[in-house]
Amino acid sequence: MKALIIYDSVYGNTEKIARAVAEAIAPFGEVKVLRVGEVNPSELEPIDLLIVGSPTQGGKPTPAIQEFLSKIPANALKNINVASFDTRVKMFVAKLFGYAAGRIADSLKGKGGHLVAPPEGFIVKGNEGPLKEGELERAASWAKGILQSKK
Ligand SMILES: Cc1cc2nc3c(=O)[nH]c(=O)nc-3n(C[C@H](O)[C@H](O)[C@H](O)COP(=O)(O)O)c2cc1C
Repeated sequence: MKALIIYDSVYGNTEKIARAVAEAIAPFGEVKVLRVGEVNPSELEPIDLLIVGSPTQGGKPTPAIQEFLSKIPANALKNINVASFDTRVKMFVAKLFGYAAGRIADSLKGKGGHLVAPPEGFIVKGNEGPLKEGELERAASWAKGILQSKK
């Protein structure tokens, strides 16, 4: 099993989640973790699983993640398992804007990807973090759930 995790992160919290997800998957295959920008979306090497994670900014993924998603060629994710996560604050107003993970998942599905887990959000205690206690562990269990439901 070959997995690729693409993330963006301004203050490092989303990167920590990406690495916790990678660590949980690592015993089951080959996992690469790359910051968005380190990989050309039109030259994705053959993979079985693509996971994309972003901080939620204004209810959306970061501009770099949005650009990455838009540049994945049509149908390039056919037969590839996909999943998405974001980091977010727990505030009523944030809820009104929506979150990044669902939008990323829609985009990945739009490119033909097979969604293998519900889009998940991990909580930071303020814009710069830190992550709420227990979120790294929750990320690891979310990742294990992906492995169980992938094709
Ligand atoms: C410009 C900006 C906009 C943000 N907008 C939202 C938002 O709409 N909803 C939300 O839950 N959090 C929002 N946040 C908080 C971010 O989600 C938080 O900074 C991020 O999860 C931290 O992850 P990182 O350390 O990987 O950058 C915003 C933060 C910034 C800096």
